[in-house]
Amino acid sequence: EKTGFIFDLDGVIVDTAKYHYLAWKKLANELGFDFTEEQNESFKGVSRRRCLEILLEIGGIEASQEQFDRWLVEKNEDYLAYIAEMDESEILADVPKVLNYLRQLDVPMALGSASKNAVPILEKVKLLPYFKAVVDGTRVTKAKPDPEVFLIAADEIGVAPSSCVVFEDALAGIEAANIAGMTSVGIGSPEILEAADHNFWDFTAISTEFLDNLIRQRNN
Ligand code: BG6
Ligand code: MG
Repeated sequence: EKTGFIFDLDGVIVDTAKYHYLAWKKLANELGFDFTEEQNESFKGVSRRRCLEILLEIGGIEASQEQFDRWLVEKNEDYLAYIAEMDESEILADVPKVLNYLRQLDVPMALGSASKNAVPILEKVKLLPYFKAVVDGTRVTKAKPDPEVFLIAADEIGVAPSSCVVFEDALAGIEAANIAGMTSVGIGSPEILEAADHNFWDFTAISTEFLDNLIRQRNN
């Protein structure tokens, strides 16, 4: 059985988690309350719509459907303004090194993200060609921690879920990978991502030996 690798996008491949945070914080401030980085943890891996619901709960704000939809658009426009000028410099450290290593071993790779902006972002940073499948927020109906996004990705790269490895910076994403029966690798705080099978602060700490071992383990 071949091993497959599935990557989350925001906060794993590109440094966009901070732009999502800034756009939500701006909206919260406009609505008269603050939104902290700690509160932002629960937004990671979560759909735009669900994030706004949580934000309004935090602020104790009730909105009509129409107002809700306007704020959704406003947040995304602010986010798009942040990423408009995005280029390869926003790729997180050593990500290309890992992607190139896996590609050279002919390991199938997929993207598994909640973002509806995934494809334009991958194009901007020129990483789209690495992925055999891109499963993003335009294609999934059930949000992480539901495993749907990763199960579709596994299916599209033709690898059994138990032979897939998932890289995630969100607790909801680690939970989704675990529920799918995949090996989960947490990128970020090991305290927050305690539920992961392996933890690294970032890709600079991931060695080719570690990748080789994952491939070997999952192959038998
Ligand atoms: C996830 C982010 O990757 O995508 C979340 O971690 C974000 O914070 C979600 O809300 C949806 O992204 P977008 O680009 O569709 O608003
Ligand atoms: Mg993420």
